[in-house]
Amino acid sequence: MKQILLAAAFAALSSSAMAPPTDAGKYQVALGDCEGCHGKNLAGGVVLTTPFGRMVTPNITPDKDTGIGNYTAEDFARAMKAGIAPGGKLLYPAMPYPSYARMSDADIAALWTYMRTVKPVKNSVNVNQLKFPFNLRFMMRGWNMLFFAPAPYANNPAKSAAWNRGAYLVSGAGHCGACHTSKNPFGADKSTALTGAALLGWFAPDLTSDQGAGLGSWSNADIVTYLQTGRNNHSLASGPMAEAVENSTSKMNDADLKAIAVYLKDLPASRGNGGGATGIEAQMKSGANLYDISCAACHGRDGKGSLIFPPLAGNPTVRQVRADSIVRMVLAGGRGASTAKAPTGQGMPSFAWRLSDSQAADILTYIRNNWGNRAPAVSPETVGHIRSALRSGS
Ligand code: HEC
Ligand code: HEC
Ligand code: HEC
Repeated sequence: MKQILLAAAFAALSSSAMAPPTDAGKYQVALGDCEGCHGKNLAGGVVLTTPFGRMVTPNITPDKDTGIGNYTAEDFARAMKAGIAPGGKLLYPAMPYPSYARMSDADIAALWTYMRTVKPVKNSVNVNQLKFPFNLRFMMRGWNMLFFAPAPYANNPAKSAAWNRGAYLVSGAGHCGACHTSKNPFGADKSTALTGAALLGWFAPDLTSDQGAGLGSWSNADIVTYLQTGRNNHSLASGPMAEAVENSTSKMNDADLKAIAVYLKDLPASRGNGGGATGIEAQMKSGANLYDISCAACHGRDGKGSLIFPPLAGNPTVRQVRADSIVRMVLAGGRGASTAKAPTGQGMPSFAWRLSDSQAADILTYIRNNWGNRAPAVSPETVGHIRSALRSGS
C-alpha cells in the first residue's frame, strides 16, 4: 500500500501536466508548526527568547535576496535534517532540526514542493542576537558532536501502526519534546523524554501516563479533544501550547491525533510529581480565604469549574512539580486557544495588581493541595521572580 502511494506521488512529481502535491506539503507545515516560529507568511522576524539570548527567525519564503530562494532541494533537506544551511552554516537548535531529522525523505520532499509555492516576501532579518560566546556559530560543531545523532525514525515492529505513526509525529515533525523534555545546561534534551520542562515562565507538563503529573487519568479521546480544540474536561491550553494548538495540532487530521494519543498513553509513567507539601497549614488557611474571594466565582468552591471555566481539582497543570505556568496565569491572566472547532477563547483575568507575592503563593499552594491535588508548595520568592520576568517582558 505504502509503495503504491509513493509510486503515485513520484508519478505526480515527474509529470509536469499534474499539479505538484502542495497540499501534502502544506500539511507538513502544520505538523512542524513552521508558522509558529517563522510567522504566518513564513517571512521570519519572530523573536525567540532563549536561555542563551535572543534569536530572530529567518525569512524562509522563496525570496532570492532575503529568503531561501537560492536553495536547492538538497540544501533544504540538509538544513532540515542535519542543521546545516548552504555555505556550511551551522544552525542553532532553536530551529528544531534535531527533531526534524526524524522526518522521512518523502515528507521533507513534500514540504519542499510546498515551500517553492509560498509567496516570496522581502524581509531581511538579523537572526543571531545571542549573547557572547553563544553567538559564535562554530560552537555548534561541538554541540552537534556531543548532542546530535541524526537518525531517521525507525519503525518499532512490536507496536501497532498507529503507535508508530504517533511516535513519528511526536518525536519528528511535531517536535513535542522541544518543550516537554527538560534540557541540560547546553540546551540539549535530557534522557527523561516528555516528562515535563520549564520554559520561559511556563511549564510544559509531563506527557507520560503518570497518574499524578502526567496524562494517566486522560482517555485517548481527551487527548484528541485537547489537541484539536485546546481544551477538554481536564485542562485548557493558554500559553505556548495555545499557539501550538492554533498553528499546528488543531490542523492535524483525526487519524494523526488518535495516533499521538495511542503513543502518549503508552509512555511509561514518570517518577510522579514528587508528592505533596508538608508544613503548609498557614499557607493553606490564608489561601482558602483568598481563593473564596478571588477565584471561586469562576472555578467553583469545589474546584470543579464549569462548562466554560476549567476545573482546578484533578488538573495536571495545577499539579506539576514546578508551578511556573500557574503563577504566570494568576499574575498575567490568559486567554484560551481559539481554533476552528471552538472559536472563542475564554479569558482569565490578571491578578498581578491585586495579590502580593505571598498572597498569590498562598492561593497557589492551596489549589495545589486541596480537592485531592498534591504538589510542592509555592514560595513568595517564586512568584516574585516570575513577576519581575513578566515586567521585563519575557
Ligand atoms: C521553534 C522555532 C522554529 C520552528 C518551529 C521552525 N523553525 Fe526554522 N528556524 C528557526 C530559527 C531560530 C532559525 C535560525 C537558526 C540559525 O540561524 O541558526 C531557523 C532556520 C531555518 C532555516 C535555515 C534558514 C537559513 O538560514 O538559511 C530553514 C530552511 C528553516 N528554518 C525551515 C523551517 C521549516 C520548513 C519549519 C517547519 C517544518 C521550521 N523551520 C520550523 C526556528 C524555527
Ligand atoms: C512551544 C512549546 C510546546 C510545544 C512545541 C508543545 N507543547 Fe504541549 N504544552 C506546552 C505548555 C507550556 C503546556 C502547558 C501550558 C499551556 O501552554 O497551556 C502544554 C500542554 C500540553 C498538554 C496538556 C497537558 C496537561 O497536563 O494539561 C498536552 C496534552 C500537550 N501539551 C501535548 C503536546 C503535544 C502532543 C505536542 C506535540 C505535537 C506538544 N504538546 C507541543 C508547550 C508546548
Ligand atoms: C472571571 C473568571 C475567573 C476568575 C475570577 C479566575 N479565573 Fe482562573 N481561569 C479562568 C479562565 C476562563 C481560565 C482559562 C483561560 C486560560 O487558560 O487562559 C482560567 C484558568 C486558570 C488556570 C489554568 C488552568 C489550566 O488548566 O491551564 C489556573 C491555575 C487558574 N485559572 C487559577 C485561578 C486562580 C488561583 C484564581 C484566583 C486568584 C482564578 N483563577 C480566578 C477564569 C477565571
